[in-house]
Amino acid sequence: MSLIKWIEFPPLGDDRGSLVALESQQSIPFDLKRVYCIFGTKEGVSRGFHAHKQLKQVAVCVTGRCRMVLDDGRQREEIWLDLATKGILIEDMVWREMHDFSEDCVLLVLASEHYDESDYIRSYNDFIVQIEKKGLL
Ligand code: TYD
Repeated sequence: MSLIKWIEFPPLGDDRGSLVALESQQSIPFDLKRVYCIFGTKEGVSRGFHAHKQLKQVAVCVTGRCRMVLDDGRQREEIWLDLATKGILIEDMVWREMHDFSEDCVLLVLASEHYDESDYIRSYNDFIVQIEKKGLL
């Protein structure tokens, strides 16, 4: 099964232009507690390099593009995020990396929990150990 879970946001645009709405428990399959935005990323910078123990996120690139790598310990997949009308769902215990941000990239991230540093796994080795412990490998 693919790690990449696309979510398409219903297009609400008209002849004036485009519009998408992201709604909790509708196109976003969880209760939303936090929204953050990554923008102004410097050339050559990659971000992420962590997994979350218990946090679901939807990432959508509202302007520009970036390359997202997801890894669940068994497989590693990558996709380009470059549409405001399509996001990806990132579930618990998935390692993520973001690369090749365009200068104008605005990456919007919707999260199921408040910010909590103790929920982060920032070492890939620890991530694999925890995946094994949970019997997910
Ligand atoms: P970080 O998690 O390192 O960003 P990424 O892994 O996506 O590249 O976050 C950078 C800093 O911002 C770090 O000090 C934690 C802080 N932060 C918050 O305070 N709240 C948030 O919602 C996020 C995502 C980060």
